[in-house]
Amino acid sequence: MAKTFKNFIAGQWVAPQGGHYTVNRNPADTADIIGRFPDSRVADVTQAIRSAREGFALWSRTPAPLRGDVLRRVGDLLTARKEEIANAMTREMGKVLAETRGDVQEGIDTAYYAATEGRRLFGKTVPSELRRKWAMSMRRPIGIAGLITPFNFPMAIPTWKAFPALLCGNAVIFKPSHDVPHTGTLLVEILLEAGLPPNVIQLVHGGHVVGNALVTSEAVPVISFTGSTETGSRIGEVCGRMHKRLSLEMGGKNAQIVMEDADLDLALEGALWGAFGTTGQRCTATSRLILQRGIHDRFLGMLIDRVKRLKLGDGREHGTEVGPLINEAALDKVERYVDIGVEEGANLICGGMRAKGSGLGKGNFFEPTIFAGVEPGLTIEQEEIFGPVLSVIRVSTVDEAFAVNNDVKYGLSSSIYTRDVNVAFRAFSELDNGITYVNAPTIGAEAHLPFGGVKQTGNGHREGGWGVYEFYSETKVGYADFSGTLQRAQIDNYLGTPD
Ligand code: UN1
Repeated sequence: MAKTFKNFIAGQWVAPQGGHYTVNRNPADTADIIGRFPDSRVADVTQAIRSAREGFALWSRTPAPLRGDVLRRVGDLLTARKEEIANAMTREMGKVLAETRGDVQEGIDTAYYAATEGRRLFGKTVPSELRRKWAMSMRRPIGIAGLITPFNFPMAIPTWKAFPALLCGNAVIFKPSHDVPHTGTLLVEILLEAGLPPNVIQLVHGGHVVGNALVTSEAVPVISFTGSTETGSRIGEVCGRMHKRLSLEMGGKNAQIVMEDADLDLALEGALWGAFGTTGQRCTATSRLILQRGIHDRFLGMLIDRVKRLKLGDGREHGTEVGPLINEAALDKVERYVDIGVEEGANLICGGMRAKGSGLGKGNFFEPTIFAGVEPGLTIEQEEIFGPVLSVIRVSTVDEAFAVNNDVKYGLSSSIYTRDVNVAFRAFSELDNGITYVNAPTIGAEAHLPFGGVKQTGNGHREGGWGVYEFYSETKVGYADFSGTLQRAQIDNYLGTPD
């Protein structure tokens, strides 16, 4: 009998009010049931909001250094349980153990960064234009933050949002993707064990009903969402109407450029890791490979040789290089794009099918796939596929490579392999992306730098780094006049000796 999991609302682990559940399965072996998880309704969210209000009243008055101490303990607990969580995460969403360990590590890094921020959370003290007057800014908590997170980084992405939100003194309502509710549960257990007061965090499992209830509630002034551009647009419309603070992190169509002077062996390792790591299910995945004419044929040959030998399987088994896709719908979507690629005349040179053979039929496996001869503008070159499908584009010059990179509606990450320092620095300034890598793949962002993209990838905010603390806090300005007289700004500011 599968274990039944609960929501965490109002300081207790509770069953969903409507009594509905969904079954969560291991994508590498869909007969392996991880558990039954609440399919919550609006009433559960309403209760969570009521409790979060109380949590906010308490937590927003707790000194920031003490809030930071809780997050330091969270980092310690994540460190102690790294292996256990990585195993649970691989079972739940399929990526290989090395990657799920990295996912937990990103959470640990984010926790320790947040912990130290508790003793900074800088405001500024600046000179006033008037005598005997102080002028300063400070950071204040906002309220309840509704966090809606995806399946592909079940630990890292929730921590990118929750830890700065909590450090800044907000209460959090967390809705993990319905594909990874178990990892979300493990994170909340750790927050509570680290000493976070119970009402400060609420975990509400479910689908779009829960997300929608958070986004449309007057009582939740901050929303942070990572997921598809379509859903992000709908959330943006509502939040715009309601004047909510919103951070969106959405699609990508990231390219790796390989110039003729590149170290090809290095570029090959980068392309394999960028395109097929996490089975291509990263916002930062390499889904386009732009090759300069002189090395095109040779590099493509090297790539095909390696891709054909990639080992698919259960991510917990030693030697597995590529895990399954998350669910049946993802398989259908990838299959649909492969059909479109073929119809539009791209050259399918590798993969393109659901993978069978040696136990793979038990899970959602798809063959690593390469299309060559992809013309810029084709559907598979423009749209996010979120699977192990790489489109190869041939270009002649650096200008053409940059133009192809930039000619998509997304702008998350890009990568260029070259030994020419001038071309490398041109890439930093001319590629329209939030992140550009030189001689490294399109994936690999570090937790203490701003993460996010331009154009339809986001809405101008960043996660990680220092700026996110501004997103989760309000700027308050204080003036204190200790002159004992009425001093009028812009009027009584004068040079010379005061009376
Ligand atoms: C994502 O792709 O959804 O840079 C997040 C990386 C990771 C985070 C990726 N550190 O690939």
